Amino acid sequence: MTEPWSTGVVRSADGVVTVGGVDVRVLAETFGTPAYVLDEADLRARARGYRRAFETAFAEIGAGVDVYYAGKAFLSVAVARWVHDEGLRVDTATGGELAVALRAGIPGADIGLHGNNKSDSEIARALEAGVGRLIVDSLVEIDRVADAASAAHPAPVMVRVTTGVHAGGHEYISTAHEDQKFGLSIHAPDGDSPAMQGLLRVLARPELRLLGIHSHIGSQILDPSGFEVAARAVLTLRADLASRTGVLVDEVDLGGGYGIAYLPGEVSLDPDRIAKDIATSVAASAHDLGTPLPRFSIEPGRAIVGPAGLTLYTVGTVKPVRIDDGTIRTYVSVDGGMSDNIRPALYGARYHAEVVGRCSSQESVLARVVGKHCESGDIVVHDVQLPGDVRAGDLLAVAATGAYGRSMASNYNHVPRPPVVAVSDGSSRVLVRRETEDDLLALDQG
Ligand code: LLP
Repeated sequence: MTEPWSTGVVRSADGVVTVGGVDVRVLAETFGTPAYVLDEADLRARARGYRRAFETAFAEIGAGVDVYYAGKAFLSVAVARWVHDEGLRVDTATGGELAVALRAGIPGADIGLHGNNKSDSEIARALEAGVGRLIVDSLVEIDRVADAASAAHPAPVMVRVTTGVHAGGHEYISTAHEDQKFGLSIHAPDGDSPAMQGLLRVLARPELRLLGIHSHIGSQILDPSGFEVAARAVLTLRADLASRTGVLVDEVDLGGGYGIAYLPGEVSLDPDRIAKDIATSVAASAHDLGTPLPRFSIEPGRAIVGPAGLTLYTVGTVKPVRIDDGTIRTYVSVDGGMSDNIRPALYGARYHAEVVGRCSSQESVLARVVGKHCESGDIVVHDVQLPGDVRAGDLLAVAATGAYGRSMASNYNHVPRPPVVAVSDGSSRVLVRRETEDDLLALDQG
């Protein structure tokens, strides 16, 4: 099947779907539902695809590039190893993500640590692990990291800046405009911008080694021009710092945010195309500024893991509901909901679903897939055509749930979180086991 499904999703002549060579009915029987299913070959191919696309395009302009996988999209020990096997490094945003990357055996040098409010213990653990870079997010944090490090072993830092470029699928996930918490702005009505102040402050502290400048402009970006505008702004700041101090920083990170298809007919950004466009544009900017190119890095999360995942649910109650204009909407309740995928409720995100355990010759009906939680906003798929005979016991799959599904899951209504099951070459294994009610009760101290 095509996008938004992972490349390993196939519907056979009898209508039954397999993922990575495994029949979804076998997955449901073996692991229960709901379950997140990750197509390992698809995920690895996307990781490789991004790395190769950027390496090739940037080699053509004479620049190096590193690809960091943004673990916030979904991180487990196995996934950290897969992406590292494919030549990616790992970007973490908290001590918890750092702990997973370290448990996976990722060398500290291949890990980055972000965060706009890092705790002392997160900073200490990152330094102890020898992370390749700490991305500092505020002026006070620069001093905190410097105080925790030593001039004998300076901490490698990048300064996160905001360029004013807004991009992405939803206001909450556009992280570079000014009225928000991340980074240091490159804009200043007069005097040094906060970003310039940050860079100067890092240079003034012998306990810090200034690697470069970081900019992340948003998420689920489908119009790539924002990357180019932001990159030009960052390269300009780099050139300004050089003319001011003589220090031309070695690295520039352009962040993540590459958009994917969620619905049939949508198309994910093509890494080859976007790598080429960004490379051409940064080469032109560096040429205009008269500065040699830095080493670049990017941090895709969603684009690597999103399309590789699907969620398998079992249908329960099916209820026809007459809506205002007289049409019938069929409410199809599944055994999960907003606790395993908060994105529709939080961002109005749209998804696609299909009945995957059988075929049906019935005409389709307008359906809404809803969860089992106690609120009416508990919607999994707003509008989708499902077979008219959709019924209890049917297996339903929702496409492209690999990113920000399990990683944002909750225990709302004391619903245990589903397992993450990997499929590959006809076999399956649990990466993260299903939570149980005992797990939840174990936290309750009575
Ligand atoms: N780098 C930085 C500094 C980031 O803040 C993010 C995402 C990424 C990389 C990865 O972005 P991606 O390639 O995955 O778009 N929970 C939201 C997305 C929040 C993204 C926050 N930062 C969602 O479900 O859409």
